[in-house]
Amino acid sequence: MCGIVGYLGEKNSKEILLGGLKELEYRGYDSAGIAVLQDGQFDSFKAIGKLVNLEEKTKDFVTDKFSIGIGHTRWATHGKPTELNAHPHLGSESYVVHNGIIENYAELKKELIAEGVTFLSQTDTEVIVHQFEKNLKTANSAFDAFKTTISQLEGAYATLLVTKGEEETIFFAKHGSPMLVGINAENEKYFASSDTPLIGHCSDVNYFEDGDFGYVTPDELAIFDVTGVKKEPVFQKLSTNKLSAQKDGFRFFMEKEIYEQSTVIADTLIGRLCDAEVLFDELDPTLFDGINEIKLCACGTSYHSALTATYLFERHAKVKTSIEVASEFRYRDPIMTKDTLFVVISQSGETADTLETLKMAKAAGLKTLVICNVDNSSMVRLADACILTRAGVEKGVASTKAFATQVTVFWMMSLYLAGLKKALPQEEIARQIALLREVPASVKVEDEMHEKIKRLSKRYLHGHGFFFIGRDVFYPLALEGALKLKEISYLHAEGYPSGEMKHGPIALADPELFTIALLPQHLLYEKAKSNVEELSARDSTICAISSIAFDKADDFIPINECKDYMLEFFEMMVVLQVLSLEISVRLGNDVDMPRNLAKSVTVE
Ligand code: F6R
Repeated sequence: MCGIVGYLGEKNSKEILLGGLKELEYRGYDSAGIAVLQDGQFDSFKAIGKLVNLEEKTKDFVTDKFSIGIGHTRWATHGKPTELNAHPHLGSESYVVHNGIIENYAELKKELIAEGVTFLSQTDTEVIVHQFEKNLKTANSAFDAFKTTISQLEGAYATLLVTKGEEETIFFAKHGSPMLVGINAENEKYFASSDTPLIGHCSDVNYFEDGDFGYVTPDELAIFDVTGVKKEPVFQKLSTNKLSAQKDGFRFFMEKEIYEQSTVIADTLIGRLCDAEVLFDELDPTLFDGINEIKLCACGTSYHSALTATYLFERHAKVKTSIEVASEFRYRDPIMTKDTLFVVISQSGETADTLETLKMAKAAGLKTLVICNVDNSSMVRLADACILTRAGVEKGVASTKAFATQVTVFWMMSLYLAGLKKALPQEEIARQIALLREVPASVKVEDEMHEKIKRLSKRYLHGHGFFFIGRDVFYPLALEGALKLKEISYLHAEGYPSGEMKHGPIALADPELFTIALLPQHLLYEKAKSNVEELSARDSTICAISSIAFDKADDFIPINECKDYMLEFFEMMVVLQVLSLEISVRLGNDVDMPRNLAKSVTVE
């Protein structure tokens, strides 16, 4: 997830910018850079990888008088993590940093190239600085040029721009991506995309609203609203607690990450969807030549997302797909044939068992692919090909947004393969791509739903266990719901395919057995419903999650009416995550660091 910082003042701006970027490290990034304007001279540095690389590059650079500077940590979306793609981006005499996405960048870029502008990067961001310099040629002032530029951008952004002709000014604009400005008694101005870089530097901060733009100088903070009318800043006192600032006001990282899912799924989709085609620039389609089977291998939550993929790949792409738990696969002398594409799934890219299976597949000469959240991790380095999930750093030990982005990638990949193999009609692929675009909205946590679950959670703190049940892709979701609950509540929970109840588990049914039933309207509703009725008849306490009211349930958590079962999947996923969270909170557990668990399992 990208991060922005900016500074105007007399202190050592290099130190302040690098310090600010360090505070944003927890969000994840794969390159970083700064640009400083001092004495009419720009200095700019960029480095891929961790901030130490940028620190090393700037070690002889000194700022000891008034300067303005901007900095950025980049999480690659448009274009690979290279120095050329790292921000700040340079025009002739100006630099820009940007978070978000400029949706009409391709159009603007085409026009600029036709007018003779040379682009150095593959990013959408670079158009901002060239468009600004184009406008500057005819504008009355740099601010007018900036204002015109902002009016020409479509999409979501937070951006800072500095230009040589205005040595004491930083221009800013915010539309859809967060940004704030801070002030202090020393007449300094600080910008950042979240609170943490400003803590300890600023007394008061103004959070920009969508549509705000303007400029700062040593003596002025000028903010204009979306209609161009000047407005007064609304200052708030800044918290002094860094950890709570990193949580963006949420009680736990897990809660923040649940709420973040809408944004990170949007990031996962960026640049990968056309009207009737899924694009994975990172994949060479020849990877699938000669492939008759896909074998998925993973652990824990990643295994659950992969299990979802087995349904989607066979249904959409008509490719034979199987799945294994990595810790089992590695010791069972599996048969590996070269017509199998071996796919490992891992949030961290470091899980020992999964990594070992990847090594086994490589040794057997299979083609390999990794679906991963961490660039440059061991699995990413080892596999033949990689799709990054773009969930940003996940801090809560119980995985939430990583799972959500993995399922999103698998859904996209099933359509990508369906296109490649002509396994689905174009119209069906287009219909599902339109649905994919709705996922960010369907995972938004609604206040009413969260409140309802908060209240309901007090009824689920005891009992002798939980069954989470679902059919088809709702079976892996049931497994994931049960895993989430046991990880952070320490209550016993199992996930089952709904149809399995009568083959044994139903013997446990009594009022102290809590059944969390997933009842999607658009997939096997009647079948799943009769399985729940069987449990209800044996007096199990039922909590049904559905868009259709269910009178045999003791409790009912409604989801929004959806057009398709995959959207119901995402809606229910959020309900299950919030339910586990609230039960854990009521039990007084450490939600972010549950007992006995580690975030990255690098031992067998
Ligand atoms: C559960 C959880 C774990 C991980 C598992 C694999 O919330 O996070 O089950 O999914 O340890 O980790 P990765 O995905 O990093 O390989």
